[in-house]
Amino acid sequence: MDNQFAGKTAIVTGGGSGIGKAVAVALAGEGANVLVNDIKLDVAQAVADEITAAGGTAIALAGDVSKADDVKASVDAAVAEFGALHLAFNNAGISGPLGPLADVDIDGYLSVIGVNLNSVFYGMHYQIPKMLEAGGGAIVNTSSILGVVGDPNAVPYVTAKHGVAGMTKAAALGYADKGIRVNSVHPGYIDTPLLGNLPKEAYDGLVGKHPIGRLGTSEEVAELVLFLLSDKASFITGSQYLVDGGYTAQ
Ligand SMILES: NC(=O)c1ccc[n+]([C@@H]2O[C@H](COP(=O)([O-])OP(=O)(O)OC[C@H]3O[C@@H](n4cnc5c(N)ncnc54)[C@H](O)[C@@H]3O)[C@@H](O)[C@H]2O)c1
Repeated sequence: MDNQFAGKTAIVTGGGSGIGKAVAVALAGEGANVLVNDIKLDVAQAVADEITAAGGTAIALAGDVSKADDVKASVDAAVAEFGALHLAFNNAGISGPLGPLADVDIDGYLSVIGVNLNSVFYGMHYQIPKMLEAGGGAIVNTSSILGVVGDPNAVPYVTAKHGVAGMTKAAALGYADKGIRVNSVHPGYIDTPLLGNLPKEAYDGLVGKHPIGRLGTSEEVAELVLFLLSDKASFITGSQYLVDGGYTAQ
């Protein structure tokens, strides 16, 4: 394994579980100092401890990404602890209320927009000035297949994830000539706690939507995220990357 992120500091939101955890562990494994954010301190701390036990460098910080002040605090903490900020994975998210649009509770809709979309604005709003100070950086935002195609029963989620894709492109254009790259990743269904305890029939139904014949793993998403955060992706910005087992090719 190379040490391609040595000397770099990264923030990973929703880093206590699933995709965020896999990215935090992988970044630290390749030399990055990682601030692990999560709304739940215990899971963020467990990931930071796992990284430290493996010889990496990480701190945990509890924070709600739907609150601008908490997001600012995470950026300030990363810079205070490690001296600069170079990388961010704005990833925390929730699935939210399901059902046809007219049946979706308005507070539920707003909460998904807060956690899955406003959070990404708050993140980049506070991260970008620090990356400019550091001489450049790279950001990956977590969207979804549902940021590319629709689902009649996941209207708030689809809305937020399409928003993440658009915000990513606009931010990328604003900073393309200033040394900051911004891209979005669009996973298919990934076997994480986000999916909840699905009955076998529902799980098999989701599998059936992926031509590859299974759900994805968090580590498979992390491979793409690390590539996009790395200098190997130096000519890539404003793009959206699917990692979906063929879901959207159909
Ligand atoms: N699992 C999938 O099938 C899938 C598919 C496409 C996209 N995604 C997206 O990937 C991202 C990560 O999902 P996951 O599957 O790893 O889920 P997960 O539930 O395993 O992990 C999400 C983490 O985010 C944290 N979190 C939730 N709300 C938060 C908040 N307000 N502030 C800070 N942290 C918060 C949770 O505590 C949890 O630890 C989400 O944005 C999700 O929408 C997931």
